[in-house]
Amino acid sequence: MTNPVTAVAPANIALIKYWGMTDPTAVLPANPSLSMTLSRCVSHCTAEKLDAAGEDELWWRTPDGGTVPAPAPIADGIRRHLLRLRGDEGPALRITTGNTFPTAAGIASSASGFTALTLAVTTLLGRQPDPADLSVLSRLSGSGSAARSAYGGYVRWPGTPEDPSSAAAPVLDADAFPLCDVIAVVDNEPKEISSREGHRRAVTSPYFSRRLETLPARTATVERALREGDFAALAEAVEQEAVDLHLIAMSAGPPVFYWQPATVALLALARELRADGLDVCATIDAGPNVHLLTTAAHRDQVMDAVTATPGVLTTIADETGTGPYLTDAHLTR
Ligand code: DP6
Repeated sequence: MTNPVTAVAPANIALIKYWGMTDPTAVLPANPSLSMTLSRCVSHCTAEKLDAAGEDELWWRTPDGGTVPAPAPIADGIRRHLLRLRGDEGPALRITTGNTFPTAAGIASSASGFTALTLAVTTLLGRQPDPADLSVLSRLSGSGSAARSAYGGYVRWPGTPEDPSSAAAPVLDADAFPLCDVIAVVDNEPKEISSREGHRRAVTSPYFSRRLETLPARTATVERALREGDFAALAEAVEQEAVDLHLIAMSAGPPVFYWQPATVALLALARELRADGLDVCATIDAGPNVHLLTTAAHRDQVMDAVTATPGVLTTIADETGTGPYLTDAHLTR
């Protein structure tokens, strides 16, 4: 195997959300989730064997292209995952990683980051994971949504309920129903309450068991709408689901409140644009930022309206992507 190895892995946006766990150690979800893999919001990770035995070197690519020692929370997560992937006997590694988008602000940076790290390190160590292995190994980092970043297009996790490994599986290719995602960033800072803590508190919501009862029908609606290219049905189910997730979060004890004023304004904007005849719907992961899903024909109008909304700091134009890959474009220090 060549040394170094560089992997690129995408973030994903959940259309049906993973919220609540049945097993925090194995990272098993309370319900099946379904996501769209993104194309431009990606993490890059270069893994390199060091000649000398000793400590791993962990580097972080800053948005301006600089390289700094990985900040403590990121370094801790990488170290724990390296122990899982390599054990404590293997060669010392230099890991250099970074994202093309804000970290830990509800754009699934852990999902893309851990998938890129897993693909780079396992490939460097000669394991050549298939997508199902990559899904399972990436998820064991603790980032459940990483299970879905192993594939392109639309992805379900778990792929089949009876699979004890809980690997994700593809539902539909990216080009079968390509969508645009106008991501409205209303806060660049890492969220105060982690997803992990949110999952833990989910069961304390009095509405949680009701959510689990309603999800199979909503998930089936989303899958059908994707397969048939039925944007109107998709929009209705996706927005119900986004609000439902945050209803559970806000009604947990203690509450997990991610929304900001601009989050609410963007939900209203999606409804207004839809009433004006545009194909658009809003969804929100664990954070205040809003993803406005739309078609290529309506993307520019959605982008203009989102950019003009008070409280929106930046927008990212993304679209359905094709999944992780290896590249020779290594991150160097
Ligand atoms: C609301 O535990 O996967 O985004 O590790 O921080 O990426 P991170 O979160 P994770 O929970 C994701 C929760 C969610 C919904 C989803 O992506 O399904």
